[in-house]
This record gives sequence, structure tokens and C-alpha cells, in this order.
Amino acid sequence: MAGSSELSTTLADGTELHLRVSGDGNVERLSKAALDAAAGAVADARERREKSEDDLGSETGIVGSSAPMLELFRMLERIRSSNATVLVTGENGTGKELVARSIHRMSRRVDKRFVATNCSAFNDNLLESELFGHRRGAFTGAVSDKPGLFQVADGGTFFLDEVGDMSPALQVKLLRVLQEGVFLPVGATEQKKVDVRIIAATNRDLQAMVRDNTFREDLYYRLHVVALRVPPLRERREDIPQLVDHFLARLGDRDGHQKALSRDAMERLMTHKWPGNVRELENEIERLWVLSGDDKLIGEEHLTPSIGRGGSPSVRPSSPPPGDDSVTISGTRLPEAVEQLERQMIAEGLRKSKGNKTRAAEALGISRRNLIRKVQSYGLEDAGKKS
Ligand SMILES: Nc1ncnc2c1ncn2[C@@H]1O[C@H](COP(=O)(O)OP(=O)(O)OP(=O)(O)O)[C@@H](O)[C@H]1O
Ligand SMILES: [Mg+2]
Repeated sequence: MAGSSELSTTLADGTELHLRVSGDGNVERLSKAALDAAAGAVADARERREKSEDDLGSETGIVGSSAPMLELFRMLERIRSSNATVLVTGENGTGKELVARSIHRMSRRVDKRFVATNCSAFNDNLLESELFGHRRGAFTGAVSDKPGLFQVADGGTFFLDEVGDMSPALQVKLLRVLQEGVFLPVGATEQKKVDVRIIAATNRDLQAMVRDNTFREDLYYRLHVVALRVPPLRERREDIPQLVDHFLARLGDRDGHQKALSRDAMERLMTHKWPGNVRELENEIERLWVLSGDDKLIGEEHLTPSIGRGGSPSVRPSSPPPGDDSVTISGTRLPEAVEQLERQMIAEGLRKSKGNKTRAAEALGISRRNLIRKVQSYGLEDAGKKS
């Protein structure tokens, strides 16, 4: 696969010939339509990427221009010169750590360290020693003094990931760092003082934990000085094309060639719910990059089958496989066929009403409430809003 090149030439009779020559000398004739589609898609992607490179996005590496992401950028801009503690919340894979790193990079502390630790990755004793350090002989195995991460981060930013998983005993110690900037290394008698900006993150509902008495209320308010919520990807589907282009461009830079996604594949990505958020999308794009080999235009046949459930009717997997006696249309059984038809009609209704749900519901002959429920379940929130 590696080392292939594409050649285009015009023959004496005026016909255009497009060939792909692979590293091992095989020559394959390519259709003009396929080449044009690939070139067009790559150019479109480049244009989208250039358009999306607004100032803050390119400064932080956070891709997105949906309303919730613009709100997040506005917040980041506002806290740029502050030293306040920040609590970043959001589901797995939404970009919490990326946001935390951006806050550090935009702050006056940029020349000092950004130190990150995950509170759920250690047991209580280890986490305490990791955070605050220990004196030699404090416990079996403590053969020398070891500075804690708070000390390493002195002057910089400390990112405490999964802060909701911290034990009550350590929560008290963290509170002291936040209130007074002091802590006691394990086995030490003298406190240490540091100047550290804390950014904490969690995918748990800390307020509910406060109600259940599993998270200290005073610590919650200390962490919550500035709260940033990173929205899940399904609430900002319009960012998907930009994110796809961003990940493809990064892989392209790595491998020295460009690829783009076919329209069908993009449509399926747009309808998927993305429970694993941006990380899941990033992994899917990497997978597509590999599986599509030398193709410049990545087709939907390479997508993980579960992606874009109810996407294009022709690709919808019908399960279980129909037997000889079953009644199907193009191999699709009744429940799936009804769903596909319903989805298509709703998408069409929204397209005609340019996303206006009241008018779409009227045109389809269903209630607005029923339409909203179906729009959510089919992942059609953005249907009809763009040309
Ligand atoms: N808006 C974005 N633009 C570009 N890349 C993003 C964006 N959001 C997330 N990513 C990428 O997605 C991946 C996951 O992001 P990150 O690790 O920051 O998420 P997280 O919320 O901390 O996840 P977890 O809760 O699982 O720890 C990273 O590779 C990150 O670079
Ligand atoms: Mg994280």
C-alpha cells in the first residue's frame, strides 16, 4: 500500500486516463468521477478547516464553533488573566483535559509546569504521597524524601482529574491547599507552602455527592469558583465535520498525504450519538484512516457498523439475518424498515421547514412533542438547519 502514486494524463484521442501505481509496480485504472470526488472533498475539508480556525480555537487547539463551544471560548477568554480555581465538568472524552491545558497555556503561569494526576488511579495512601510527597522512612519503602506533585507544580497549574473519586480524608487535605496554600508531606512535621493554581475535573455529579455526604460541601464551593461544562458531542453535532477535518489533517501531516470523508460516511457520523464523545470520534477517524488504505476518499463501508444507527438505509445492518421465509425489503425486516421510513420522512420534513419543528410536525401530521421525541431518538437535532 505504501509508496503508491497517482498519475493523470490525456491520451491522443482526448480521453483522460487516471492511474494508480503502487509500490510493487501494480497499475490500477481509476475512474475520473472517483478522483474528482476525492479532490473535491479534500478541497472542501481544507476550506472548512481554514474557516474554522478562529483565534482562540487555533490558540488552544480546541476545535469547534457550535454555540456551546463559542460560549466555552468566551468563558476561557474571560478567565484568561485570573488565577481562580476552575472546575471542569463533562462526560468522558469531551475534552476536559484539553480545556485544562488550554487554561494553563493562556495564563500567566505558562512558563511554569502543568502537572496532571488522576485521583482514581491510586489508592488513598499512594495518592496522598503522590500529591503531597513523603519523608524518608514515613512508610515501608520510603527510602528517601520524595517531593509531591503539588511541589513540582509550584508556580504553575495542577490538574486534578476525577476529583470526585477522592476520599473524604484527602478532601480535607486538598481543602487546606486551596484555602491556605499549605500541606504536610507524609511523615513530615513541617508544612510546605506552594503557589499552585488548581483545575479540577470530574464526570460525576458533585452536587449530588454533596447531598449524599460523599463530597465535602466546603470543598465543592472552593473548587466551583469558576465552573466550565464541556458539552457532550451529541449536543454540538455541527462541530463533527470540523473535528473530522482536524483529525484527518493531523493524520495527514503525520503520513504526508491527505484524505477526506465521503458524504455518506459523514452523514452517518453526524447521526451517531457518540457516547464516548470526541475521543470515540478521534478513534473512529484513526481506524478509518488505516482501513481505507490508499483511498483518498474514505467511504462509509469502512465505518464501525454500529456508527450512525439508522443513518443511510442502504447500510443499515439488519439483524438477525433474515431466513428464507422472512418478508423483507432489500433484506430489511418490518420494524427496521418502518424506522428507516420514519427517519427519512422526519429528516425530509425538517429539511423542508428549514429545521422549524412546529411546521415540520404539521407537515408530517404528528404532534410537535412527538416529533421532538423522535428527532432526539434518531439523532436528527441538526437536520434542516443547514443548506
Ligand atoms: N474540541 C476538541 N478539539 C480537538 N480535540 C479534542 C476536542 N475535545 C477533545 N479532543 C481530543 O479528544 C481526546 C479526549 O479529550 P480529553 O482527554 O481532554 O477528554 P476528557 O474529558 O479529559 O476525557 P476523560 O473523561 O475520559 O478523561 C483527546 O485526544 C483530545 O485531544
Ligand atoms: Mg481526562
